[in-house]
Amino acid sequence: MTCNACCAVYARVFGKELAQFEAWLYRRRGPARATRALLELVQAAHPARGASVLDIGAGVGAAHLELLKAGAATATDVDASPAYLDAARAEAQRLGLVERVHYHYGDFTQLAETIPTADIVVLDRAICCYPDMPALLGAAAPKARHVLGLVWPREVWWVKAAVRAFNAFERLTARCPLIVYVHPVAAVDATAARHGLHLYAKRNAGFWHVRVYTRDF
Ligand SMILES: C[S@@+](CC[C@H](N)C(=O)[O-])C[C@H]1O[C@@H](n2cnc3c(N)ncnc32)[C@H](O)[C@@H]1O
Repeated sequence: MTCNACCAVYARVFGKELAQFEAWLYRRRGPARATRALLELVQAAHPARGASVLDIGAGVGAAHLELLKAGAATATDVDASPAYLDAARAEAQRLGLVERVHYHYGDFTQLAETIPTADIVVLDRAICCYPDMPALLGAAAPKARHVLGLVWPREVWWVKAAVRAFNAFERLTARCPLIVYVHPVAAVDATAARHGLHLYAKRNAGFWHVRVYTRDF
């Protein structure tokens, strides 16, 4: 197991109650709107059938579970929250997919060397809670053989205001606060481009940017 300070914060914020609530929501309503948009754009770029999937910061596993249901062969779930990993495993078990998923606990930037490449790599609302986006995305992008899909908060005033309010509340109330980042689109695109990935499709889903990149060959 490899983990750094971020895991302590994630274990507090993304704890058992939230994981169980999100798993319940997923069972009731399926993936969130932004995740549905991500899945649609990712599958337009590369068919799920037979693909390998790497889901970094998978939460309860909605993105990789839906891709497995759509025919993906295998998935790897890397998460820095033990409660989310447990919830994702329970969901995979419920759906009869658990044999096709590998689970890793820890900070992906520290685990990356040990994680194999995949046809499809997704970070659904994961880069926004990590303090060093270029490090996380820079570790994730080389793992994408064909497609990289990202969801993070939109660079618009009302999202930035909501994020500022959330961060202020965290700083006031938590000893080790979770800070959310609204990464500039240009910085995200540039980091992907450094690893040979260029924008294939984009969509806004309420609060979220959904952007999918494909590899140049
Ligand atoms: C807001 S949740 C999103 C979960 C899920 N992907 C979704 O969209 O519902 C962010 C998740 O990313 C994970 N995460 C963030 N940075 C990470 C990192 N560097 N390595 C592994 N997991 C990370 C957190 O533990 C948390 O489970």
